[in-house]
Amino acid sequence: MTIQQNISLKDFNTFGLDVKAERFVSIRSEEALIDFYKRFPEEPKFILGGGSNILLTKDIPGIVLHIDLKGISIVSSDSHSVIIESMAGENWHEFVEYCLENDFGGIENLSLIPGNVGTAPIQNIGAYGVELKDVFESCRAFDIETKSFRTFTKAECNFGYRQSVFKQELKGKYIITSVRFRLSSSKHQIKTSYGAINEALAKANITNPTIQDVSRAVITIRESKLPNPKKIGNSGSFFKNPLVPRDQFDQLKTNFPNIPSYPVNDNFVKIPAGWLIEKSGFKGKRFGAYGVHDKQALVLVNHGNAKGTDILNLAKLIQMTIKRIFDINLEAEVNIID
Ligand code: EPU
Repeated sequence: MTIQQNISLKDFNTFGLDVKAERFVSIRSEEALIDFYKRFPEEPKFILGGGSNILLTKDIPGIVLHIDLKGISIVSSDSHSVIIESMAGENWHEFVEYCLENDFGGIENLSLIPGNVGTAPIQNIGAYGVELKDVFESCRAFDIETKSFRTFTKAECNFGYRQSVFKQELKGKYIITSVRFRLSSSKHQIKTSYGAINEALAKANITNPTIQDVSRAVITIRESKLPNPKKIGNSGSFFKNPLVPRDQFDQLKTNFPNIPSYPVNDNFVKIPAGWLIEKSGFKGKRFGAYGVHDKQALVLVNHGNAKGTDILNLAKLIQMTIKRIFDINLEAEVNIID
């Protein structure tokens, strides 16, 4: 196990922010994780996965643990499904590609989401009508306090919209080391009801789509809206889509007849934050090195040498503006480290 000093985290966060870790270690096995916690019980620690859902606004004191556990294996199978296990440090999209190559279905709608497998359950990643929880079987995690491992069932993870127990009461207490998924191996359930997927499939003249076709459609849609973090630093959706009470929504509808919404239940509707931000005039706005993406207003971007605090201040300005115009509180989806 090599502990490096004063390492730039620029290549370890998809915003591409150049902050430094006082010390940095890559963890490549569960044994190394136990060993590390025994050797460094007192030092402050910062757990880093794929770095795709964090805004780093300052240098990180103590030791950054880069979770770099690799490996994918099939645990069991029956006539229609498989249980497949991926270690936490596998790149999410490479895992999706592995499943598509083996014709395992269920995560094709989650193609091209940045980040790693091990951090996907923390915020229950979701896109195009599918959430991680739909295919999640269980995960294994290291208990930082007792230095032992335990398994979490789906029920124990308490998944919600971009939410899980790991972001709530167990925040900072566990490190996920592997995740098991239940995927279909035949009779795949194709989910194309999310409007743009059907459009993309129709454009490609596909009437009876395979899971691979759905994945290609999702990739086409994502590439048309979301910036590639390798080219323009970003962390996907910066905010969650807010839930508003139905009577407030009815009032908004009289002032903004075109306001889009998704029904949630009898009392609440979900409003796309991207629409609110666009309507407030921020879409495509550039403030030097940082700004709001021109094709999807929900995404804040680093064009080059922005600082995390610049992006944080922009996020606060957007939140204040949305509050003033719509009386809606926008909540960050990204983890802000300040
Ligand atoms: N819209 C605008 N202007 C914009 C962006 C969106 O008016 O600049 C409105 C449009 O009415 C559009 C609607 O918002 O029809 C929905 O937009 P989109 O389909 O792009 O989805 P979203 O609700 O903005 C959510 C997820 C994305 C996920 C997509 C597709 C959240 C916070 N975001 O975005 O997730 O890819 O749906 O399912 O729920 C992520 O979490 O990082 C992420 C990218």
